[in-house]
Amino acid sequence: MDKIKIIGGNTLNGKIYISGAKNAALPLVCASLLTKDAITLQNVPALSDITFLNSLLKYMGLKITEKEEIFDQHPTKTYTYQADDIKELIAPYDFVRKMRASYYVLGPVLTRFHHVEFSLPGGCAIGARPMDIHLSSLEQMGASIEIKNGYVIADAPEGLKGAHIIFSKASVGATCNILMAAVLANGITKIENAAKEPEIGNLIDLLIAMGAKISGRDTSILTIEGVKELHGATHAVIADRIEAGSYAIAAAITKGKIELINACAEHLQQPLRTLERMGVSVEEKENSIIIDAQNKTIFGEDIYTDYYPGFPTDLQAQFMALMTVAEGASLVTESIWENRFMHVPELCRMGANINIHGHASAIVRGVKKLSGAPVMATDLRASFALVLAGLVAEGETIVNRVYHLDRGYEHLEEKLKAVGANIERIKEPD
Ligand code: UD1
Repeated sequence: MDKIKIIGGNTLNGKIYISGAKNAALPLVCASLLTKDAITLQNVPALSDITFLNSLLKYMGLKITEKEEIFDQHPTKTYTYQADDIKELIAPYDFVRKMRASYYVLGPVLTRFHHVEFSLPGGCAIGARPMDIHLSSLEQMGASIEIKNGYVIADAPEGLKGAHIIFSKASVGATCNILMAAVLANGITKIENAAKEPEIGNLIDLLIAMGAKISGRDTSILTIEGVKELHGATHAVIADRIEAGSYAIAAAITKGKIELINACAEHLQQPLRTLERMGVSVEEKENSIIIDAQNKTIFGEDIYTDYYPGFPTDLQAQFMALMTVAEGASLVTESIWENRFMHVPELCRMGANINIHGHASAIVRGVKKLSGAPVMATDLRASFALVLAGLVAEGETIVNRVYHLDRGYEHLEEKLKAVGANIERIKEPD
């Protein structure tokens, strides 16, 4: 299994191109199941999560073509998906266990083909990750749902019908799934307490381009009028706000200056304001963000993760890495996931001073320096937090279990090396 080796201490300066967003691309890819026509997606990141999802869709019978293309002056991937000859209406365990977000096939397949079988994914490192909101919403839309041998078997012989659904939590996954189910349902669906993450706006734009009728974009009430059929479209994945936020912290923690090309400041307001309060200068430009921590003192600050536009849980671990070397104390409260402090013991092995209180809060007291160590994390964002700690630590840090990083950070070492990091991948047989 590959490892990442970092020798800490370099100041990072330069430009980093922000890739297409993983969490936007995953539901967009599954939206291709809604039509027999071709769906072309531009700016798709080269990540293992996308490769896993593509292999599931190929198994189901989709035709997928891939090409390298210049998008916004940078080389990226364009995929074309065509679901005109679906052979399998089942997402087997072997695919789902590798990639939880394969649950995005549920809504589109059920609404178009009136039947789907989907292996329940089970828990994961950051929490139980239930699917009750997805399933109860589909039931409200007329589906009959049975759980058998670890699989959800959902049927709607007459097709799904519109419903008035009130989510108990503003779930991103359920909002995408139920949106995709509702666009081909009979009648009008209203979702209250919908999630408002930018990735959902990106999905709504594609669905509308395919002929769907949706109103309420960027609000917590979405109204969808079902149509008989959707058609092909070409659509671009938005820039990854979590990748942009992660590299913003790389600039801050190394006291450097990085321009995040193609990043969308509007999608990152809470993290950018937090960085400013910590002493970092932030300049928002039309198509980039400049993060400047040169000669700055970084101070501790409190964060509370919340649904968008609140502070993103997916940047909590990376901010915590920055707090470990800030002046003074910081309080981190995690309100979305019940088990998202797995990076804490590893950061402490590098010399950080962090105390966890209960399940949801951690106090970080800044230390003068971290020291390199072999570390490993159990999830994607926590792994990046360890990379950040390695960038500032004295000596050598080896980050194990690199497959987590490969799920969500395109060309990680290349991007960091280009701005001055001493980082390399150590290839090892699996
Ligand atoms: C998505 C993101 C993930 C991010 C999370 C929150 C993707 C592929 N993943 O995950 O990176 O951390 O949003 O921003 O986009 N919940 C239920 N029942 C459900 C569904 C969710 O109780 O049926 C709860 C979850 O346990 C969690 C909260 O709702 O406490 C938010 O989860 P959700 O927004 O669904 O997260 P994901 O879509 O899985």
